[in-house]
Amino acid sequence: MAAVSLRRVLLAALVVVGAAFGLLKAEAGERTPVPQPVKPAAAEKCVADTQFMRRNHMKMLLHQRDETVHEGIRTKQFSLANCVSCHAVKGADGKPVAYSDPKHFCRTCHSYAAVRVDCFECHASRPEEKAKAANASDSSHDPALSALSAHVAEMKK
Ligand code: HEC
Ligand code: HEC
Ligand code: HEC
Repeated sequence: MAAVSLRRVLLAALVVVGAAFGLLKAEAGERTPVPQPVKPAAAEKCVADTQFMRRNHMKMLLHQRDETVHEGIRTKQFSLANCVSCHAVKGADGKPVAYSDPKHFCRTCHSYAAVRVDCFECHASRPEEKAKAANASDSSHDPALSALSAHVAEMKK
């Protein structure tokens, strides 16, 4: 418990320092460094209107997580696995990058806005099969399995 909260405090501090640094850099630079999320090559549209997604994706995801986990309701429209597949960004090795990489789609704005999400501690941040091939030592070997064991751990509390 103590170790976990210390880690959280340290991470929060890092985010604040990082944000301050980013702001200084922004002021020193000529242009405002607005985040530029990469557009998926294989799709024209998101699962909902782009403007809507920009503003509300977090609500949809968080809301659906609650419904799925607590009430067993599943809808495909706001599936996190689908976001990650369609929005996969390839790294230098041609394989989809994980959330640990600053190029990851979900981080392009989060790093900028200093938002920290812990979703990828349990959920795969890369398309499923490719994630396995890309890095076998990654903690998220099998997303379904890690989600399940996380769920079991949650139930035991
Ligand atoms: C079938 C592919 C596909 C899926 C699945 C998908 N998206 Fe998208 N998303 C897109 C495309 C294409 C765009 C850019 C649309 C445009 O330019 O108008 C986009 C745009 C976005 C944007 C705005 C990015 C910007 O440039 O400002 C956000 C945020 C976003 N998606 C989040 C999500 C989330 C969260 C999910 C999962 C619930 C998701 N997307 C699922 C294809 C997808
Ligand atoms: C402690 C582990 C854990 C964390 C952290 C976590 N989830 Fe989940 N999540 C689960 C489990 C377990 C399920 C149920 C798995 C299933 O239904 O297949 C789930 C299901 C979901 C679903 C519905 C199924 C899907 O793939 O779309 C969404 C959406 C979701 N989570 C979003 C999030 C978001 C967003 C975050 C971060 C804010 C997050 N989760 C953090 C464990 C976690
Ligand atoms: C267009 C920029 C942008 C992109 C791309 C983006 N986000 Fe976000 N996200 C934000 C902003 C800004 C916030 C903070 C909003 C707030 O605090 O009200 C946020 C917040 C969140 C939150 C809520 C965090 C919390 O604990 O309150 C979740 C969950 C989330 N995003 C998931 C995702 C996922 C998953 C992806 C990739 C599929 C993604 N986001 C891509 C801009 C973005």
